[in-house]
Amino acid sequence: MTLVPSNSLVNAVTAGLKPYPMEELSKIKAGLVKAGKPVFDFGTGDPRIATWPPVREALIKALPEISQYPSVKGVDRLATEQAGYLNRRFGLQVGGDLAVIPSQGSKEAIFNIALCLVGRAGGKKHIIYPDPGYPVYRSSTLYAGGIPYPVRVTNENAYLLEPWDLPADVQKNAAAIWINHPHNPTGATAPLDYWRRMIDWCHKTDTILLSDDCYVDIYDSAIDAVVPAGTLPAVERDPRPVTPLQLSTDRILSFMSLSKRSGLTGYRAGLVAGDTRIVAPFLNARANFGVGSPDFIQHAAAAAWGDDAHVVERRRIFSKRLATFGPLLQDLGMINKIPSSAFYLWAKIPEKFGDDDVAFVLDMARIGVIASPSQWLSEGIRGHVRFALVPEEASMQQAMSLLREYLK
Ligand SMILES: Cc1ncc(COP(=O)(O)O)c(C=O)c1O
Repeated sequence: MTLVPSNSLVNAVTAGLKPYPMEELSKIKAGLVKAGKPVFDFGTGDPRIATWPPVREALIKALPEISQYPSVKGVDRLATEQAGYLNRRFGLQVGGDLAVIPSQGSKEAIFNIALCLVGRAGGKKHIIYPDPGYPVYRSSTLYAGGIPYPVRVTNENAYLLEPWDLPADVQKNAAAIWINHPHNPTGATAPLDYWRRMIDWCHKTDTILLSDDCYVDIYDSAIDAVVPAGTLPAVERDPRPVTPLQLSTDRILSFMSLSKRSGLTGYRAGLVAGDTRIVAPFLNARANFGVGSPDFIQHAAAAAWGDDAHVVERRRIFSKRLATFGPLLQDLGMINKIPSSAFYLWAKIPEKFGDDDVAFVLDMARIGVIASPSQWLSEGIRGHVRFALVPEEASMQQAMSLLREYLK
């Protein structure tokens, strides 16, 4: 049989996609499970922690006898709880210049916003984003017919993307810029001065600031003693990660999610908040995308946005894991500093393994430990690996003794 080149049946963007990193990791995991080996999965950022019971109860209670189409705008209760969360956590007042809409998890909204921004303002096509970073910034730009513009962020620049240093034509043609702090995969956070400078730059160059705030609630749990849930210090004194919406709404959108905040990865629930002049037409476009969440998910999501105590508990779990696992990587010389945001560790692979992170990860999988290689989370960055703090305390301890043995 003659194989037809796949790019004659699908378009060039689709034919050119690399396998999605998490799909590759699932395959490695399935191979280990099939071989009857224990698996310590630090690969995908999807911890197995029981869902807060009121969320499940809200879902069951809202399950209707008769099924009807949901709306993209969402049920009133969800809008109320999302507005309440934005107010409690960031001091934001929804209404006027600031609008909020639900998303079916951040991923689809991150993907779909590119369709609404590429080509704006007389044909701006570049979308700037950090590398390493979340892979959908690039794929969404390509699907929207835009020009992806990855900018390498490194330990030396504290993983902060500095668009003011980019070539003048890129600055001029930037439709939007993605910023993600706390940052996947490095856990880096951004200081307030950086946000101020970024917002000024966006206003000066007429670039839409897209802030991926997926991890904004996953910070050091010690902060909960200083800033108890429900209290709100002035932004200058707030030790928690911020959203740029606290400084301005002009040309800014924030993408938030219940996936990490509440562990609702399987529910697919998030929000987009920001400049009403963008959110309103985006909502209108979304009616075409097929992204209205089922009403019972919306009610469950409302319960999660409405409560902070279960998030305090999740932070405690992740911070404890970080305190357990971080020092091991530091001892082994794989990280300089333990990040304050407690979800990922971005580590350099030991020199004796060379710089082929994919080979390193495949080899390390032989002892049952799975992590993500840097080449799968970036555009060609070699020699690093990302550990997501997913395994539970006991299995993390087991993985640590295996790793110590393997890496020394
Ligand atoms: C940086 C970043 N943004 C967005 C997402 C998407 O999250 P979700 O679609 O589950 O809300 C993820 C998921 O891991 C992420 O790491």
